Amino acid sequence: MKRIINVVGARPNFMKVAPIMEEMGKYPMLDPLLVHTGQHYDALMSKVFFEDLGMPKPDIFLGIGSGSHAEQTARIMVEFEKVCLEKKPDLVLVVGDVNSTMACTITAKKMGIRVAHVEAGLRSRDMEMPEEINRLCTDVLSDFLFTTDILADKNLVAEGISKDKIFFVGNVMIDTLIKHKERASHLTILQEWGLAAGDYAVLTLHRPSNVDQKEVLEEILEALAQISTEIPIIFPIHPRTSKMISDFQLDHFLSKCLPVRGIWLTDPLGYLEFLHLNINARMVLTDSGGLQEETTYLGIPCVTLRHNTERPVTCELGTNFLVGNKKADILKVAEQILCGTARAGCIPEKWDGQASERIVRILMEKI
Ligand code: UD1
Repeated sequence: MKRIINVVGARPNFMKVAPIMEEMGKYPMLDPLLVHTGQHYDALMSKVFFEDLGMPKPDIFLGIGSGSHAEQTARIMVEFEKVCLEKKPDLVLVVGDVNSTMACTITAKKMGIRVAHVEAGLRSRDMEMPEEINRLCTDVLSDFLFTTDILADKNLVAEGISKDKIFFVGNVMIDTLIKHKERASHLTILQEWGLAAGDYAVLTLHRPSNVDQKEVLEEILEALAQISTEIPIIFPIHPRTSKMISDFQLDHFLSKCLPVRGIWLTDPLGYLEFLHLNINARMVLTDSGGLQEETTYLGIPCVTLRHNTERPVTCELGTNFLVGNKKADILKVAEQILCGTARAGCIPEKWDGQASERIVRILMEKI
């Protein structure tokens, strides 16, 4: 038996680990465990995803919660070390680029445990992003680096990582999307909200670089308010953004009930509800990483409110447009999309629903 600890911590981890755990369950020789660090803890940021994705309850919950980067990372390391001492895994599998990803990687490696990183090799080249630091540390330490795209392989090789550790397997988040798309398409939220497919935009916003300074956040909200005079924008709000909007007294940009036009605030949504909204949206506006990939797969135009992306394939092949956070730039691209003149995209190689199968097959051979 080979014991593998799979780590989740924050919202974008759940849909990546779900298909891998499911695939591991098919191999009697594997003993997969799920550890949830508790980096995200609100029911709407965590529990609802386990329900929507049909994921098993975590075997171990560390209950770390929020804090500064150092506090959060350190607390995860202290608690995760105890788990590794007790469970003695043959491998620790981490996904993405959140603090839990890096903290568990460092802990495992220092205990002589091998690490697999799923979604390796993505680079924004922006060292002000905490996630970029997490990606670099995780990749340099990992023994198995599973990539979503050939550009990521090139990044890793350029950083001196040996080719025999790198495996181009595709995108596990797209595995989950493909599995749940049909179910999500049958939900009735749009009907309940009186919205028709293609008649609204969806917004997510949570990066510190966009929401932690009043002038930046205000300029973004001004641009969005202008777009929303043409098409209503649905805004499931992240707890960090909610707090900042209230601290900066910018609430007047938002509406608490569904307007014909305007920015409509909702609580964070579960995986299926959010996918339902995406599938039917005219466009998505976001500063998320994963949404750039999901919209590329779905062929929905995506306006990314960032100056750089660790996922350039979504701009080169997909429907993603990188616009930064200046009002004129956001409006220009949104206008092109609303007029129907924005370019269409195609789906990157191996984003085909089989990434998890490839990953587990490789692990079965190598560990
Ligand atoms: C984290 C990840 C980011 C990811 C994002 C998705 C890092 C460095 N950042 O950022 O890469 O895109 O998750 O959401 O790992 N909070 C709650 N309830 C929760 C979780 C957080 O209220 O369940 C609040 C707390 O006030 C907290 C703040 O949100 O201080 C930020 O949470 P945190 O986990 O530190 O970072 P995110 O911005 O969510």
